Amino acid sequence: MSRSYKIAVIPGDGIGNEVMPEGIRVLEKAARLFGFNVEQQWHDFAHCDYYLKHGRMMPEDWKDQIGKPDAIFFGAVGWPAKVPDHISLWQSLLQFRREYDQYVNLRPVRLMPGVPCPLAGRKPGDIDFWIVRENTEGEYSSVGGTMFPGTEREVVIQETVMTRVGVDRVLRYAFELANSRPNRHLTSATKSNGIAVTMPYWDARVEAMAANYPDVRWDKYHIDILTAQFVLNPDRFDVVVGSNLFGDILSDLGPACTGTIGIAPSGNINPDRTGPSLFEPVHGSAPDIAGQGIANPVGQIWSAAMMLEHLGETEAASAIVAAIERVLAEPSLRTRDLKGTADTGTCGKAVEEALG
Ligand code: NAI
Ligand code: MG
Repeated sequence: MSRSYKIAVIPGDGIGNEVMPEGIRVLEKAARLFGFNVEQQWHDFAHCDYYLKHGRMMPEDWKDQIGKPDAIFFGAVGWPAKVPDHISLWQSLLQFRREYDQYVNLRPVRLMPGVPCPLAGRKPGDIDFWIVRENTEGEYSSVGGTMFPGTEREVVIQETVMTRVGVDRVLRYAFELANSRPNRHLTSATKSNGIAVTMPYWDARVEAMAANYPDVRWDKYHIDILTAQFVLNPDRFDVVVGSNLFGDILSDLGPACTGTIGIAPSGNINPDRTGPSLFEPVHGSAPDIAGQGIANPVGQIWSAAMMLEHLGETEAASAIVAAIERVLAEPSLRTRDLKGTADTGTCGKAVEEALG
């Protein structure tokens, strides 16, 4: 077999363990149909029971154990009743993002059939765009500190850090993505009227990068009115790029405008491929429904499609998204969060079958 991919599989906590098998089921079916091979390496760490046993979320040599996979397929991490969230997330997911320089956080915003849209009068096809978030610097920096704590002179400072390398590489990714889509339209999130040093810099780098992409139409909105436009005119957008903070906000707002958290996927991507990229559903471990077999597996399955797209298996990726659309259109195949009756396995098997 010519094409073969090594995938590190990390289910994590809670419903991560229930939706991961469905993601794998569909991945394996896609491999059979489209003629590539998937070599899975399952890892039993980056979950809270591991922490309770070992006092840390991952073994010291986690990087060696993971080795050099082509991608990481991740479920969800966190179980606040066992381990505080800042520990479980920082010692697992955030390690991956940083150590593997996954500087793009990518999320689709797409209204799917069968998913009630919280925005009035919108139907599938109306909303279909991507959010590209800078994932390593910007507002989320460790530069800063506190002086004179607890006194009248108390002062706290946290600096935004934008580097030319960091800004340019995420903008290049966003412009490339826009250039590959039929609409060729990019929107940049800014706030240069208020944040008068870093945001004018960001704007200037957008303008400089745009010169390399004459076919891409681009515009910019201040973040405040941009959030309003997401709600009022979501059909306006094609690719939206933002700094770490703005992208964080937009990448929750966007999927929220298209319905349920149970179906949204995401990629933490290292486009330079100096390390593996990580694909995971947007949702967390959902302790409130974990163990009941009712979690929606679509977010995990759609994440598999994003992973295959990244690996160059474009046809398989589109086929999975189309299969998801066919299954969601059928009320009896939807899970309870979408007012259906199917359990996790029924929905996952239905996507597998719809694939062909
Ligand atoms: P959550 O996403 O786990 O759950 C929020 C709500 O959505 C819950 O009512 C849950 O039942 C529902 N939900 C989530 N996924 C669903 C699915 N696939 N099907 C049906 N319903 C679903 O967020 P929450 O409760 O704030 O966090 C729980 C834990 O997950 C925390 O420890 C948190 O830190 C962690 N978390 C981890 C993430 C990750 O691994 N990337 C992302 C978000 C949260
Ligand atoms: Mg967020």
